Amino acid sequence: MKAIVCVDKNWGIGSQGDLLFHIPADLRFFKEKTIGNVVVMGQATFFSLPGQQPLPDRVNVVLAADPDWSAEGVIAVHSMEELFELLERYDSRLVFVCGGASVYEQLLPYCDTAYVTKVDAERPADKHFPNLDENPEWVLAREKEEQEYKGLRFRFTTYKMV
Ligand SMILES: NC(=O)c1ccc[n+]([C@@H]2O[C@H](COP(=O)([O-])OP(=O)(O)OC[C@H]3O[C@@H](n4cnc5c(N)ncnc54)[C@H](OP(=O)(O)O)[C@@H]3O)[C@@H](O)[C@H]2O)c1
Repeated sequence: MKAIVCVDKNWGIGSQGDLLFHIPADLRFFKEKTIGNVVVMGQATFFSLPGQQPLPDRVNVVLAADPDWSAEGVIAVHSMEELFELLERYDSRLVFVCGGASVYEQLLPYCDTAYVTKVDAERPADKHFPNLDENPEWVLAREKEEQEYKGLRFRFTTYKMV
């Protein structure tokens, strides 16, 4: 499976339940990569989606501790065991781990690729993605040219597990 994330200079990903950045090109990139595929997210990330609606045209899998929780249009799973049992039905190359921090942390060891949009800015953050530059199991495989949106410089990068 693959992780997909947008980080600031300190690998921050979120603050008070929201994203740090809303960059249209990054949202388009996320959509292009995930459309038609399986997205796995934690309940907090699901609640942060617009209207708390599942992402359209994707299989939405949501990890939730509460065994009674479910929502229309999502497949709720309540443990890693349940998640892996479900994911056996899908080609793992089509499974995207979409956050948040707790889910990235748990599933990164099972990912072979991480699409990391790096924003050249610092924001106060209470959630972080593991710093792949400090992790010898991961290498920076590809970097696209820098782009800019409203004064924010960012670039798309791809990390691969060694
Ligand atoms: N920058 C990005 O690309 C990006 C992407 C996605 C999200 N985010 C940000 O990340 C933040 C949310 O991250 P988060 O870590 O707070 O929340 P999260 O990972 O989205 O969701 C946490 C929830 O998932 C449940 N959960 C996680 N693992 C589970 C497991 N193994 N079994 C059962 N339930 C499980 C937790 O239950 P319990 O804790 O009750 O066990 C908790 O309710 C937000 O600020 C969001 O905007 C950023």
